[in-house]
Amino acid sequence: MTRRAGTLLALLALLALIPAPRSLAQDSTPPYLDPAQSVAARVEDLLARMSVDEKIGQVLQVSRDYLGSEADIARFGLGSILSGGGSGPTVNDPVHWADMIDGYQRAALSSRLGIPILYGIDAVHGHNNVRGAVIFPQNIGMGAADDPQLCEDEGRVTALEMLATGARWDFGPCLAVPRDLRWGRSYEGFGQEPELVGELGAAEIRGLQSGGLGSATAVLATPKHFAGDGGTKGGIDRGDAVYAEPDFLRLFVAPYRDAISAGAECAMVSFSSWNGLQDHGNRHLLTDILRGDLGFEGFVVSDWGGVALLPGADESERIARAVNAGVDMIMVPDVYEAYFRDVQALVAGGSIPASRLDEAVRRILRAKFELGLFERPFSDRSLLGEVGSPEHRAVARKAVAESLVVLKNDGGLLPISSTTKRILVDGSRAQDMGAQCGGWTITWQGMRALSIPGTTIYDGIAAAAKARDIEVAYSPDGRAPQGFKPDLVIAVVGEDPYAEGRGDSRDLALGYSDKALARKAAVGAAACKAPLLLILLSGRPLLVGDELAESQAFVAAWLPGSEGEGVADLLFGDAPARGKLPCSWPATLAQVPVDGAEAQGCLFPTGYGLEP
Ligand code: BGC
Ligand code: BGC
Repeated sequence: MTRRAGTLLALLALLALIPAPRSLAQDSTPPYLDPAQSVAARVEDLLARMSVDEKIGQVLQVSRDYLGSEADIARFGLGSILSGGGSGPTVNDPVHWADMIDGYQRAALSSRLGIPILYGIDAVHGHNNVRGAVIFPQNIGMGAADDPQLCEDEGRVTALEMLATGARWDFGPCLAVPRDLRWGRSYEGFGQEPELVGELGAAEIRGLQSGGLGSATAVLATPKHFAGDGGTKGGIDRGDAVYAEPDFLRLFVAPYRDAISAGAECAMVSFSSWNGLQDHGNRHLLTDILRGDLGFEGFVVSDWGGVALLPGADESERIARAVNAGVDMIMVPDVYEAYFRDVQALVAGGSIPASRLDEAVRRILRAKFELGLFERPFSDRSLLGEVGSPEHRAVARKAVAESLVVLKNDGGLLPISSTTKRILVDGSRAQDMGAQCGGWTITWQGMRALSIPGTTIYDGIAAAAKARDIEVAYSPDGRAPQGFKPDLVIAVVGEDPYAEGRGDSRDLALGYSDKALARKAAVGAAACKAPLLLILLSGRPLLVGDELAESQAFVAAWLPGSEGEGVADLLFGDAPARGKLPCSWPATLAQVPVDGAEAQGCLFPTGYGLEP
């Protein structure tokens, strides 16, 4: 025997002495892979087989944009991959989404224990990153509609479109209770009253998880952002909510009770602080209140890089603080290798007790088993035909009509009378899918002039007018075509799309060019002795006293999404006007925030809405 062969044999003999972790080879079907076992038994069986490193991987969530290679999913045993706003396949269509997510899933299943990933995404008004998906009104519009069944339907439709692409985890619904409209995320909340937010949020969760988590029609919902995101001072995104505990609980925590009763098994932490302490490091909030008082048993995920924003000498200290406060999964989302090493060291040194790591992993695995991820890890391609289907669009169209709030209707202008002969539609926003969808649509911030399937507000008006033999002209800049003398002018004004902090506003003013357009439309209408109907596309009430004064009718359309025809349904009386303000409409900045001493005498109170 050569010397080399001898060394090899000795090495093999040595290897044989090291007890291998229990592996698949030892029993044909280990209990964790047996769907006949209880979820609890499967969780415990799998946990017992996992090395510390495999457990650490489970608590890390990585953005696909920062994933070095697909092989890293198995190499680090990552628990989850996410698409941030606008992050998807180069060819953005449902099939390529399914291929992409299934690819990540295959990589995860190739790991030693074959633990599937949870693929997370912000499907916050439909499956909004996917071109071709139906886009629902943003939540503030759903709040105006105040129709729990509709929210449940939205959740159900969104879940089916997600399942078609393999995304099983939705970062929604947003349960923010916006109290200061200057906050750029106001539109992500259903409204300023916690009761409304809780009721509609719970309904959406029931829709997203319809049939129960284990059913083939369910995705995992995530009420967010726990808690106080809508209460920050000055409406500053990621700011500080200054409230005594009873008020904080009543306003911002209460909706989570409804969410938990509706079956929420995951919650996302808020970037914001409560009385100066950042939520990501607040054990009282994430453990005493959420688990102790509310009885939450699911897992808690951090927000995007939220752990890295905590105070602390270094990243290790911040991680330990967050995990020990109650964060179970860390949305890293970028430097996962460093986080992996940091958590390794923290666990080895005892700063994160092994029992705490086990607890977090247990909660994550439970969600994976309950979702049936081990049995059905891939996209459900039989649902591809349902993405953006006529049936789904009909649900969103109904939601649009229900969400519109008629703030003014002088002389019974609405519904549009059958004697109308010529309508002039003013404003480029009338023909702009991006303006009507807002942020979190195909891209993170959203964009003007977005090209996705659907109908614009103008398309809807034109179709309804045609059916009634009404002539319609369109003018992006408010100048009527030569010789066209309208007997009704409709002008669409509003805000440009935005998301998160970029939407924070100091003045809640309508932009200069939109004010100018409204003025021009009013002058043009007056010249023809035609009434003016203004439609506002915005994520929140704006200070529009002038525009209200110079129009005969005014409709708050919020950010209605891809089914612009729903607007015409209301204007022409094909759908009843029933939307009500989910927040008060300030006349001046002094009336913002609602919790301020001067929040009196607003233009329109919560619950206002005419029913012509
Ligand atoms: C947002 C969350 C979102 C996450 C992932 C964060 O910046 O605050 O609402 O779920 O990004 O896109
Ligand atoms: C991502 C978003 C995320 C944001 C956080 C963006 O790059 O696309 O999903 O919410 O960063 O700041």
